[in-house]
Amino acid sequence: MSEKATLNIHGKSYEFDVITGTENETCIDIQQLRAESGIITMDPGFGNTGSCYSSITYVDGAKGILKYRGYPIEEIAEKASFTETAYLVLYGELPTPQQLREFSSRLREHAPLHTNLEHHFSGFPKEAPPMAILSAMLNLVSCFHPEVLEVPTTGEQFDRTASLLLSKVRTIAAFAYRMASGKPINHPNPNLSYCGNFLHMMFSDPYQEYEVSPVVDKALNLFLVLHADHEQNCSTSTVRVVGSSRANLFSSVAAGVCALWGPLHGGANAAVIAMLEDIKDSGRPLNHYLDRAKDKDDQFKLMGFGHRVYKNFDPRSLILKNQVHEVLKALNIQDGLLDVALELEEATLKDDYFVSRNLYPNVDFYSGILLRAIGIPLNMYTVMFAIGRMPGWIANWKELHDHKQRISRPRQIYTGETTRPFIPLMER
Ligand code: SDX
Repeated sequence: MSEKATLNIHGKSYEFDVITGTENETCIDIQQLRAESGIITMDPGFGNTGSCYSSITYVDGAKGILKYRGYPIEEIAEKASFTETAYLVLYGELPTPQQLREFSSRLREHAPLHTNLEHHFSGFPKEAPPMAILSAMLNLVSCFHPEVLEVPTTGEQFDRTASLLLSKVRTIAAFAYRMASGKPINHPNPNLSYCGNFLHMMFSDPYQEYEVSPVVDKALNLFLVLHADHEQNCSTSTVRVVGSSRANLFSSVAAGVCALWGPLHGGANAAVIAMLEDIKDSGRPLNHYLDRAKDKDDQFKLMGFGHRVYKNFDPRSLILKNQVHEVLKALNIQDGLLDVALELEEATLKDDYFVSRNLYPNVDFYSGILLRAIGIPLNMYTVMFAIGRMPGWIANWKELHDHKQRISRPRQIYTGETTRPFIPLMER
């Protein structure tokens, strides 16, 4: 007999099931609330509202815990490649060597873009934001693969669609960068790893193939692994809402790209670099920025700080912080922004405004310095986040269909004008 929660309102009592997940999280299942009482709950921003039952990722914000399919992020970050992690997030289990070979072969097979697709890149203005290009091209790819428009996709069809998206998102990103830079595109090289191929497509020159250093390859794998999924964040929830209408996977993730673009979400990694550069170059003391961040009349926020769920350290930021030190040392790079970042973090740890609000560095705070170290241009940082998050978006979209979830359609409380007579134009 499951525990019940009772709601007493307008002199009536309503009972609802209390559901507990495998990590002992508890919710009240209020799916019948409106049907039974005519009443809805209100939770703008959904900070207290569950949208689904999911077995993909678990985050404990109070303890700074993140697990993909039950594996702690610290272990995955240390031991798994992005391809292995993508397989785990998509299929729920770590791949066997054979499964990994087959998965990698599908990723290699799907890396090239249809020639006609390449022509579309030249239609974008040079200064077009890469996230706009990414979202547009993801939808466009589906025009060249009508078979992926079927919904929901299962079995072979899902394997093909998922690996096609995971592979082509990387090619699209690299092509967008090359075209915007006025450089010839580099076609994918099937002999390279997932990350190695991306770096080749980004940075090889007609006469000099980019040489993938193990340090850079490891750093890029780690960056993508840490971004692979993160429960029902803004962009993943967007993918689920769009997918709930039975829109195809490509249009659903294209919508996810748009949600990720915002500076409060995936756009923060680039905004962190801009903020650190301003702090470094302005000559103003750190307190000037801390005071602005506290000022309610000032829109300025410390980018890369705070999180809806983590009220402790974001475990990803701790891993990235260590990795940044390692990469800068291995590549013999002195990046003054890292010193500024460390000073800023130190200052917030001593400032009650930030400590009392649990505002610690999140995944975006150090990730930009890592991308800088491996040579990714600033306007591609959020695109890198999208490449990393692709497995999570696809897995959540599939889970939505596996659970045959209803179309998303939240309610509202109307606060506008009540009924009033229409006034003809000449009488207004
Ligand atoms: C990501 O959801 C996910 O899982 C996201 C993500 C993922 O992997 O998908 O982890 C990736 O998006 C990380 C977040 C990247 N964004 C930023 O770094 C932008 C800066 N951060 C803030 O905008 C903010 O912290 C959010 C958006 C991350 C969280 O917003 P919330 O949960 O709505 O926080 P809030 O506005 O309720 O803040 C609580 C208080 C407020 O002050 P008071 O009203 O209590 O006085 O903290 C303050 C906020 O003003 N606050 C900040 C702040 N973040 C929150 N003050 C200054 N600087 C900040 N960064």
